[in-house]
Amino acid sequence: MFVFCNKKSEALAKEVVKATGAQLGEKEVKVFPDGETYVRILTKVTGKKAVVIHTTKNNDDLIELLFTLSALRDCGAHAVVCVIPHILYQRQDEAFKEGEAVSAKVILNIINRYADEIITVNAHFFDEGGKSSFGGVKVLNLDAFPLLGEHFKNVPDLAIIAPDEGAMHYAEAAGKAIGCPHDYLIKKRIDGETVEMQPKALDIKGRNVVILDDIISTGGTMIKAAEMLKKQGAKSVRIGCVHGLFTKGVDIFGKLDVVCTDSLPTKLSKVSLAPILIKALKA
Ligand code: R5P
Repeated sequence: MFVFCNKKSEALAKEVVKATGAQLGEKEVKVFPDGETYVRILTKVTGKKAVVIHTTKNNDDLIELLFTLSALRDCGAHAVVCVIPHILYQRQDEAFKEGEAVSAKVILNIINRYADEIITVNAHFFDEGGKSSFGGVKVLNLDAFPLLGEHFKNVPDLAIIAPDEGAMHYAEAAGKAIGCPHDYLIKKRIDGETVEMQPKALDIKGRNVVILDDIISTGGTMIKAAEMLKKQGAKSVRIGCVHGLFTKGVDIFGKLDVVCTDSLPTKLSKVSLAPILIKALKA
């Protein structure tokens, strides 16, 4: 088995290679003066299984991924597995307004055109881990929330809270993995201008709280939730997510302890996805 990767997923790919006994495949990638991307597979893959570990944060990442998958097929790989920790455009998973493109469906279908198998991590359009299908494409959706739970398991008097009901299953997966209570925040209108968020049932007074969500983009959701929980008497508040996009940088979190996985590597990527990727690839 050969493992190919892009720069953003290199560290992750090397961990997988070490644990699986696979070999790291080589490719050449360059950008032409007009901005177009060039990909060439340098390792002989004829008749071999090729695993491409390649996260995506922007359009260039996607193009490089598609060219890599396609070239591996053209080079005669007998199976091409696409491991894409963060699928870009995953939050546009329906037409929220009439006429909108369902970007997540489009992206997944294009990737599927060039891959025999797609593995991702906590895709926003799935409610649970495991084999599932979206937009007509079969995907193995791995769940990184137990890993996030493990990261915080030594925090005393811990409670894991999701920022809204839609994210409840994330807090549940992390909480169950380490046997700690979990809940989600509900919005409560105080007056015409004030909306408060508070845990649905759990009393968090004096507890150390970790707020978990799948994605942090601007950070607005998490910062608001952290403020609310502190106001309601949480002893401390920490934040964790799988996919840290951090579109406004990380300084906006001030002294808040923020942790994400290496699905998109940043200086806050303190939880590696390697254990779940290795398990899936060995299965
Ligand atoms: C929403 O659908 C996601 O699960 C996150 O809650 C959202 O992406 C967070 O966005 P932001 O960090 O910009 O508040």
